[in-house]
Amino acid sequence: MIDYNSYLDDAIAMARAAGDIHLDFFRSSRLNIETKLNDSDVVTIADKESEKLIVSVITEKYPEHGIITEESSPLHEEREWRWIIDPLDGTTNFSQGLPNFCVSIALEHKGEAVVGVVYAPYLGELFHAIKGKGAFFNGKKIICGNKTILSESVVATGMPYDKLDNPDNNLQEICKVAPKVRGIRRLGSAALDLSYVAAGFLDGYWELNLKRWDISAGMLIVKEAGAAVVSIRENRNFSIMAVSRGIEDQLLSLLKIQ
Ligand code: IPD
Ligand code: CA
Ligand code: CA
Repeated sequence: MIDYNSYLDDAIAMARAAGDIHLDFFRSSRLNIETKLNDSDVVTIADKESEKLIVSVITEKYPEHGIITEESSPLHEEREWRWIIDPLDGTTNFSQGLPNFCVSIALEHKGEAVVGVVYAPYLGELFHAIKGKGAFFNGKKIICGNKTILSESVVATGMPYDKLDNPDNNLQEICKVAPKVRGIRRLGSAALDLSYVAAGFLDGYWELNLKRWDISAGMLIVKEAGAAVVSIRENRNFSIMAVSRGIEDQLLSLLKIQ
């Protein structure tokens, strides 16, 4: 049996160091905001500095591992061990001065996440999981919510960056779900949304066209907390629903599956 604890310790140390970088730039005039795909897709200097730090630690300590990270080309992504990094998830929030943002770090072995860390530095929230060992929020074990009635549930979602050009942009699904739930939220960080389902702060979450770095750590955390994770599109990158099992069928029935 491989002991993943030292990898977890490293992932947490990297996440905390990256979080310090986020906080150094947060609400400052030094953000250097640039757009990527379109005006909805932004990157700041904090995304880049956070990534630089994490990649330098991994390449120094684990030169035999691969890395997939949002703001740079992958490094040896075919390797048996690889790290999946979102150096700053929730950049739109971050760039506006809104506190819902985090760093997400996962370690995959043979394509499967075995360690996941999501750290929101401004909120002081750290989620982690090791495959088969449960999920934790600031060191305490968490399990997902146990609601069984959709109208009593609070769920989150997001809209894809190609929302203007692609009609499969989640608007229809939002219109169907919003009247049927207690509340619907757009919190702006996929990694935190998944972690919040894990902790029972949200009862469900779905989103289309996510990338591997948005969800790798969060999906391990939410699965280890006992939630169901379902793919809701075949050919739209990662399109997923993560939900407490008691409302899985009710929420799924409102989301188009392709
Ligand atoms: C984004 C956030 C957002 C989600 C987007 C993601 P980024 O990541 O997770 O909540 O709706 O699809 O791309 O760009 O802030 O790292
Ligand atoms: Ca992201
Ligand atoms: Ca990001």
